[in-house]
Parts: sequence; structure tokens; C-alpha cells
Amino acid sequence: MKRPVNVFDYAGHICKAMSPGVLITAKVGDKVNPMTIGWGSIGVEWGKPLFTAYVRPCRYTHEMIEATGEFTINVPLDNVKNILGFCGTKSGRDVDKVKELGLTLEDPMVISTPGIKELPLTLECKVIYKQDQVMSQLREDLLERYYDRNDANDYHTAYYAEIVSAYLIED
Ligand SMILES: Cc1cc2nc3c(=O)[nH]c(=O)nc-3n(C[C@H](O)[C@H](O)[C@H](O)COP(=O)(O)O)c2cc1C
Repeated sequence: MKRPVNVFDYAGHICKAMSPGVLITAKVGDKVNPMTIGWGSIGVEWGKPLFTAYVRPCRYTHEMIEATGEFTINVPLDNVKNILGFCGTKSGRDVDKVKELGLTLEDPMVISTPGIKELPLTLECKVIYKQDQVMSQLREDLLERYYDRNDANDYHTAYYAEIVSAYLIED
């Protein structure tokens, strides 16, 4: 069962959950792939409620979002350390994370990508703008800390996505 929520009532919870992490889930064909993210923003632009995710081009998730332009954000309400650890270290190119972890998928309302019952606060998101972040515009110490300046492909892509539906998955 889904209980619709006003996503901004949960903005504080979502931001606090970024450490230790939330999931971003993508789906292409029959393949569903959740990935741990620790960076993300919630806000408003173009009059739309937005979730912005920052995904490196080397992630399988990047390839999947490029293909479909949509994802769900899956936010835990309690400790799911093992799920976040697994989804933050294994690639969907090599393993079926949903199967390995025995995750329970929940049919979406608006988009085609499911939610995950074990991380019940669900944001269905459709990309409306994307931007490859420009390393030369970043403060030097952060450039040094987070990127390989010899790898032009190392920057994040920022996906600005409209939150088209938000709910809690309940029994
Ligand atoms: C706590 C944590 C936070 C992470 N945050 C991000 C992030 O915001 N963006 C990103 O591109 N990768 C992030 N990662 C790395 C990916 O989760 C990791 O590389 C994952 O295995 C990629 O999966 P995929 O190849 O199936 O997409 C994070 C990893 C951890 C453990």
C-alpha cells in the first residue's frame, strides 16, 4: 500500500539520510538496479519540486538514466546499513543487487521504475535537465579531493528531476 506524502514535509529527513546514504534506482527493460548515493539536493526550480542527483559517468546507473530519463529515490526510515553497503560497492553490471539482497519491489504510480519496500519513502523522478559538472568551476581543494584532473570523464553529471510522485510504502 502507498501513502502519498508532501515531499517537503520530509525534506529534513531526506537530507539527513544522505549520510549514511539513500538509494537511486533505475530500470531498463526488465533490469532494476539500485545504487547508493550520498550526495543529492531537494528544492524547487522552474516551479517544480526537484530532486537533483549527482552520478559519475562510470556508474552503470548513469548509463541506465541516460537511457530512460527517470529514477526513483528510496529513503530508509531505519538502519539498512547492509543494503547501502552492498549497493554502494557492487555494480549492476556484475551482479543483480535486487536478487542478491532479496529486495521487495513496489510497482510505481507514474513512471516505470519501481520503489523498494525496505527503503519505504519513495520519490518518483523524471529528469528535466542535466548538466555535466565543469571541473574548472570547482574550488581547488574540492577538485583535488574528489576528482582526477587527468580524467576528463571523472566529473559528475547532475540530473535535475521533477518529483512526480512521493509516498511511503506501507503494509
Ligand atoms: C555511502 C556512499 C555514497 C555514494 N554516493 C555516490 C554518489 O552520490 N554518486 C555516485 O556516482 N556514486 C556514489 N557512490 C558510489 C556508487 O554507489 C558505487 O560506485 C556503485 O557500486 C555503482 O553502482 P552501479 O555501477 O550499479 O551504478 C556512493 C557509494 C557509497 C558507499
